[in-house]
Amino acid sequence: MNLGKMITERRKMMGVTQQVLAEKLNVSFQAVSKWENGTSYPDVTLLPELAAVLNLSIDSLLGYPSQSQTDYDNRYNQAGYYWGLAPNSICYEIMRLKPPTKQYRVLDIGCGEGKDAVFLARNGYSVTAFDISEQGLIKARALADHCDVKIDFFKADARDFRLETEYDIIFSSGVFHYIPDKLRSDIVGNLKQHTTQNGINAINVFVRKPFISLAPDMEESEISAGDWKSGELFMYYHDWLFHKNEETIFNCNSSGVPHKHCMDVLIAEKV
Ligand SMILES: C[S@@+](CC[C@H](N)C(=O)[O-])C[C@H]1O[C@@H](n2cnc3c(N)ncnc32)[C@H](O)[C@@H]1O
Repeated sequence: MNLGKMITERRKMMGVTQQVLAEKLNVSFQAVSKWENGTSYPDVTLLPELAAVLNLSIDSLLGYPSQSQTDYDNRYNQAGYYWGLAPNSICYEIMRLKPPTKQYRVLDIGCGEGKDAVFLARNGYSVTAFDISEQGLIKARALADHCDVKIDFFKADARDFRLETEYDIIFSSGVFHYIPDKLRSDIVGNLKQHTTQNGINAINVFVRKPFISLAPDMEESEISAGDWKSGELFMYYHDWLFHKNEETIFNCNSSGVPHKHCMDVLIAEKV
């Protein structure tokens, strides 16, 4: 995608006008309009600020693959759907709590190959979804096309993405353990702030228990993020109504070496 198209797409996704974007960057709206229709380019000194305002890395803004990729690209590059196509059980709980009596806006953070985003879209929700893996998004778009649903998929890094528009339902499965401890309060605060009244956040995260050894296949980005403490996720939502706050320990054989994980699952409503 060229630079102008990227700016237009991201600006619209954030729900801001050319004028608002121009004000944030201290340029005229005519300048933004010219960048978007490809008749001129932003000054190179403006790129860091433009990338930050659009919640992108400079690489992504210029159409290069992000440097902060995980090894998920390799996994998603294989035939078939790495995580299968069955939706996460949390999706059914979302449907029970917020049946699609109107087009609720859903954000799926770290949507992978899109199984949950597509499931929710097929059931009448208006879904936006992002992931850091381009390969995951390619699969996710193909799945949405196959199921004949429209989903706003885009590539972003949850660590530097901040919402500017509101959602009724924010969902994330298997992703929050990549969020470094220093950023958690800011990121969760941003999600809470951009959830509509009586909207819900449905999130799960792997947590550390001293009596469970570290998984043998932990990735570098997961280790460097720092452990999530048991109950930490719930604490961020102490002022919301809990529909679910559950901790489960389960067996896993992902690396061929049997091990255990502990996961906290939260479904909370903004009241
Ligand atoms: C365990 S998979 C879960 C995928 C999907 N939520 C599902 O349940 O099928 C974790 C996903 O998080 C994505 N991911 C990892 N770090 C990320 C980040 N910093 N920002 C956005 N997505 C990220 C990976 O690319 C991967 O698709």
